[in-house]
Amino acid sequence: MSGRLVVFEGVEGCGKSTQLQRLQATLQGSDRIQDLQRQGAISQIVTTREPGGTELGQEIRHLLLDYRSATPMASRAELLLYAADRAQHVEELIKPALADGSWVLCDRYVDSTVAYQGYGRGLDLDLIHQLNQVATGGLLPDLTLWLQLDAAVGLARTRQRGAADRMEQADLAFHQRVQQGFEQLAEQHSDRIVAIDAAAETDAVATEIDAVVDRYVQQWYTPSLTT
Ligand code: TMP
Repeated sequence: MSGRLVVFEGVEGCGKSTQLQRLQATLQGSDRIQDLQRQGAISQIVTTREPGGTELGQEIRHLLLDYRSATPMASRAELLLYAADRAQHVEELIKPALADGSWVLCDRYVDSTVAYQGYGRGLDLDLIHQLNQVATGGLLPDLTLWLQLDAAVGLARTRQRGAADRMEQADLAFHQRVQQGFEQLAEQHSDRIVAIDAAAETDAVATEIDAVVDRYVQQWYTPSLTT
C-alpha cells in the first residue's frame, strides 16, 4: 500500500494553512475515505509543513524566518537551509508515512523553492532542480493545490496578522516574482498542479478544493476496468 502526497502552495497570505487543516477535517469525516480506510487502502491523513515538519526542521525554520542580523543571509545559504529541511523531512516523515499508506497533506514543498529561491531570489533554476532531487530522492507530489492569489493582496493579508517574518519582509517586487514563478510552474506541470481561486471566500475555496480532491480520489481508487 502506498499513500498519496498532496501539497498546498502559493504566495504569502493565500490561505493554504487554513485550507490544509480544513481538508484534513473533511477527509477524516468523509464516508468514502473511511470506507477506503476500512478496506486498508488508506492509513492515516497526516499534516505537515516545510520548513519545520521535523524537530531538526523546526530549528531550521527558526533560522530561516527569525534570523536578524546586520549581515543579511546569503541567498545560497537560504537555499541550502530549505534543502536541508526538506531532506530531513522526506526521510524522517514523508517517505515512511507514504510507505505506511497514509496521505500526507504538506504545506509547501519543492515548488516553493523554485518560486522563492529561483524566481524570487534569482538563483539558477538548474541548481535548484538538482538540490530538490537530492533532498527528495525524486519524490514528487501526487497532487499540488496551488492557491492562486495576487501577491499584493496576500501580503496585505499577512501584514494585518502582525509582525512579518524575514521572508514576508521582502519587498513587493520579490513577492510578485514568486507569484510569476508559481504561474510558470503551473503551466509546466499541469499534470499535477491544479489552480484554485484563493481570492474567493474561505468556504468557497474549501468547496473548490474538495471537488478537485474528490476527482483525484475517484481516479486513484477506482480499479481500472478490464474486459
Ligand atoms: P509559511 O510556512 O508561513 O508559508 O512560511 C514559510 C516561508 O518560507 C514562506 O515565506 C515561503 C518560504 N519558503 C521558501 O522561500 N522556500 C521554500 O523552499 C519553502 C518550503 C518555503
